[in-house]
Amino acid sequence: MKILVVGSGAREHALAWKCMQSVLTDRVFVAPGNGGTGGMAKNIQIPADDVANLVRFAKREKVGLVVLGPESAVAAGVGDALREEGIPVFGPGRQAGRIESSKSFAKDLMRRAGIPTAEFGVFHETGPAKAWAREREGRVVVKADGLAMGKGVIVCGSVEEAEGAVDAMLVDHAFGRAGATVVVEERLEGPEVSLMAVTDGTRVLVLEPARDFKRALDGDQGPNTGGMGAYSPPTGTSAKMLTEAVSSLLEPAVRQLAEDGIEYRGLLYAGLMLTADGPRVLEFNARFGDPEAQVVLPRLRSDTVRLLLESARGDLGPVPELDWDPRHCVGVVIASGGYPDSFETGFPIEGLATIPPGILVFHAGTRYVPGRGLVTSGGRVLTLVALGDSVAAAREAVLATVGRVRFNGAFHRRDIAQEAIRA
Ligand code: AMP
Ligand code: GLY
Repeated sequence: MKILVVGSGAREHALAWKCMQSVLTDRVFVAPGNGGTGGMAKNIQIPADDVANLVRFAKREKVGLVVLGPESAVAAGVGDALREEGIPVFGPGRQAGRIESSKSFAKDLMRRAGIPTAEFGVFHETGPAKAWAREREGRVVVKADGLAMGKGVIVCGSVEEAEGAVDAMLVDHAFGRAGATVVVEERLEGPEVSLMAVTDGTRVLVLEPARDFKRALDGDQGPNTGGMGAYSPPTGTSAKMLTEAVSSLLEPAVRQLAEDGIEYRGLLYAGLMLTADGPRVLEFNARFGDPEAQVVLPRLRSDTVRLLLESARGDLGPVPELDWDPRHCVGVVIASGGYPDSFETGFPIEGLATIPPGILVFHAGTRYVPGRGLVTSGGRVLTLVALGDSVAAAREAVLATVGRVRFNGAFHRRDIAQEAIRA
């Protein structure tokens, strides 16, 4: 079967790599892909949100499965258009994708489904939003309702901060239209866990958990990013916790959507905070996490294409047991100097040929230029990943290798998964 992976990040590189390993796969295309996917699969120069051309390509090539990587493809309606043509697609339609693209939609769904989440209010005007925050002495989180590239969330510790955050979104339009509506919610405390599950609209099959590190710098300092590293499984999680999370957080979400007439086929991601009162959902995403996918997929031994195809066809069958590599997996992102703010691209990337076997290299912001080789083309450039019998072993293997990759301004975090060793 021919498979089309939509997107261009390290998550999509990991997905394409996994799909290549399946006995069901003849050929993998990635649209638009990056400098790494071009070497192992075939890059197709179609942007991830170009619905008409993606559909045309999938029809012409008789693609048997399309896998949606980024939220932009979901929000553009790529899933809906492909399904209309009868092409199996792993990834929800636009309506179902609102669980990620609208925080107020997600909060309303959680309230109706009885899913534990932070208390919240939805506001269009500063007065009531600030009053809500003042009642909680400013210990709130102010969120732009729409998609803001992971940046539209301001965690506040005082009334001044909260009022400033509300003004930034509703008065100064810091996040444009995404911030024309804000969700203000109570600020919770506890470690975070990323849970990803495959669903066919009815059944929910949870994957091994992961934890990502969102801040740019060591010690969780610096600005929020798309994610600077991750590891799986994280400390503080257990099989029992996973089973409970499926029945109290994930299944109710899929069921509520179905009751609302919205079928969800694809990956449902829940960002959890493990509070003293139990797990709370901070957010849902309509796709694999990045960099979570890079540390969870290498541990999946079951046939990935079969799994994604069954979900795409709306039939996961009698819930299969997934087979997992018990080893620990650690991934570290190498980013361009200045990321997540402004950064330059086009720098040659050196040292990849010296990476030892056993280290997985997933490309994101890389581009192959004939005559020049691989150059940087984005903020997050590569994710380096290792498996190990212990977190410490996996972590050491990655950290011993990151320094071999060199490009102007490259930086990475040195403390990914360190918490698991201290624990
Ligand atoms: P989100 O995009 O909604 O996941 O928020 C991004 C980050 O903000 C999360 O990973 C948390 O670290 C933090 N955050 C979001 N909501 C809350 C909350 N209610 N309480 C505390 N921290 C939060
Ligand atoms: N790493 C968090 C996300 O993909 O949204």
